[in-house]
Amino acid sequence: MTIAMEKNVTLEDLPGVGAATAEKLISAGFGDVMGVAVATVGEIVEAAGMTENAARKVIQAAREALEMGFESGEDVYKRRLEIEKISFGVKSLDEMLAGGIETGAITEAFGEFGSGKTQLAHFLAVRTILQDPESYVVYIDTENTFRPERIRQFAEGQNLDPDEVLRKIKVARAYNSDHQMLLAEKVEDLIKKQGLKVKLVIVDSLTSHFRAEFVGRGTLAERQQKLNKHMHTLLKIADSNNIAVFVTNQVMAKPDTFFGDPTQSIGGHIVGHSSTFRIYLRKGKKSSRVAKLIDSPYLPEGEAAFMVETDKIRDL
Ligand code: GTP
Ligand code: MG
Repeated sequence: MTIAMEKNVTLEDLPGVGAATAEKLISAGFGDVMGVAVATVGEIVEAAGMTENAARKVIQAAREALEMGFESGEDVYKRRLEIEKISFGVKSLDEMLAGGIETGAITEAFGEFGSGKTQLAHFLAVRTILQDPESYVVYIDTENTFRPERIRQFAEGQNLDPDEVLRKIKVARAYNSDHQMLLAEKVEDLIKKQGLKVKLVIVDSLTSHFRAEFVGRGTLAERQQKLNKHMHTLLKIADSNNIAVFVTNQVMAKPDTFFGDPTQSIGGHIVGHSSTFRIYLRKGKKSSRVAKLIDSPYLPEGEAAFMVETDKIRDL
């Protein structure tokens, strides 16, 4: 995934880029040096209103500022050794995920309404703090479904101090997709400026605002573009800080209608390709829930059945 290691270079370190130009680049979606490095000359000309020659220089400088290129398999392996797993403490789920959800990656839970996405997110938040009492969780809530009461119940179920756990969860309500994207970008500040040891970032739900705001075919491309950018931000948070990102995504149960294949979540290939792990959730027998791992890079496809209870999530 990582093709470039970023040094501490900002847009304004690039030749001919002052505060005003940096502002223009950012608002056109070129928020960092990486974005500029992979942009075309035309894009930068349009975004920053500079000449082709100047744009070419800026892109060249951005590319040089990044150590773009290849790294050895050994380096990739070393980085993989740093990956941590956040376990559910639920045997079937942990086995399916070979230990739990990974840091440095995005895990997407998708399924129809009531399939347990939000419950898993709450439970994971508590489990993260159980596993590392120093750690913090960021919860970006787009549907107003974050429930501190639920966190308290799960915390008590894990023998944790509920107040302490709630203190460790930084919640932000996102009012629209732009706000959601901005909040994701602000996670870096919590880490760098406030020095919080963030281990898990939850976006619940990833797609609801995008779906509501972009209706009709004309705006579909724009939606995908924004979603792509958002996923890129999340991937970068995960990758450069060794954080686990957990996103939820509602899909229709009926295969025929709007979005086609039920295992095809909204945002389609964009979300699918940027998520390292995808878990499809459905309702099972007797109010159980079934999780299925879909196209993981190296884990076998598997299924796990679980129950949501008042104080915990447990094996069937
Ligand atoms: P959408 O956000 O609508 O797409 O659904 P979701 O996938 O996020 O579903 P959610 O995680 O909210 O799951 C809701 C289900 O969890 C309910 O139908 C209940 O079965 C279960 N649940 C939620 N709270 C409790 C609780 O306090 N006790 C028990 N036993 N079950 C609960
Ligand atoms: Mg939900």
